Amino acid sequence: MTTLEFSPLQPLAAKAVGVDLSQPLTASVVAAIEFAMDHYGVLVFQNQALTQDQQIAFARQLGPLDIGFGKVKGPGHRLKYRELGDISNLSLQGEVAARDSQKIVGNIANQLWHSDSSFQRPRAKYSMLYAVEVPAVGGDTEFADLRLAYDALPDWQKKQIDGLVARHHPLHSRLLLGDTNYSQAQRDAITPSEWPLVQTDPRSGRKILYVGSHACEVIGLTLPEGRLLIMDLLEYATQRQFVYRHTWAANDLVMWDNTATVHRGRYFDVSQRRDLRRATTEEVAA
Ligand code: OGA
Ligand code: MN
Repeated sequence: MTTLEFSPLQPLAAKAVGVDLSQPLTASVVAAIEFAMDHYGVLVFQNQALTQDQQIAFARQLGPLDIGFGKVKGPGHRLKYRELGDISNLSLQGEVAARDSQKIVGNIANQLWHSDSSFQRPRAKYSMLYAVEVPAVGGDTEFADLRLAYDALPDWQKKQIDGLVARHHPLHSRLLLGDTNYSQAQRDAITPSEWPLVQTDPRSGRKILYVGSHACEVIGLTLPEGRLLIMDLLEYATQRQFVYRHTWAANDLVMWDNTATVHRGRYFDVSQRRDLRRATTEEVAA
């Protein structure tokens, strides 16, 4: 029997070896994964062969599952479970979708820095993204550590943002890109949520700079002032020294903490197949 080990990647993340995620995990392996997540924020598991059933079973061992933006999406889902987000450029029939289809247009917002489901309460805790098929070039995913970002802020700015609260909206990043084709029912499906810009990460106990592209205003500031502050802070938080970039291979599973980190997809040629699926747990209030 092999044992689970973690080897750190810089400046955040770790590679996990010695575990087969398709099989039920022992309580001590679950605890080791949670402990490592609290520390690293991102874990990379390679050479995992997971059916949809196995991916869901793995994720359920880490908490109740979240549907997130799936609540806004129209009917029709290619995957077997609503709790598996279809992070692909494929149509319901499994072919590369038309460039101007909602499937491709909507997913482009994943290329803006964000934390999954920060627009809802409870928000997402862990995201577990599994690669079925990846393009030969492009389509990496980047992760930035919001704890490192907070620690590095100058003191004057820590004071400036202390106590400020941002509103996070499910459609803000999409509307910003010009993806506006949402009905009133879709627009109303999720009530926006408010979160302090500075928080104590419930798991690592460290302070975080909680910003991302779902944040659309800062309570008490004018819209332009608040949006500029959010943009400035996000730019600060995502400097190279706080970022791990993952280049995908098929059968990789990458798991991240949505409070300690933000992430974004990177450009790829949407005429090439890219098929990933995501299970996500909900943050349970302490
Ligand atoms: C996600 C996401 C980015 C990517 O699945 O939550 O933002 O690279 N994905 O596909
Ligand atoms: Mn995401």
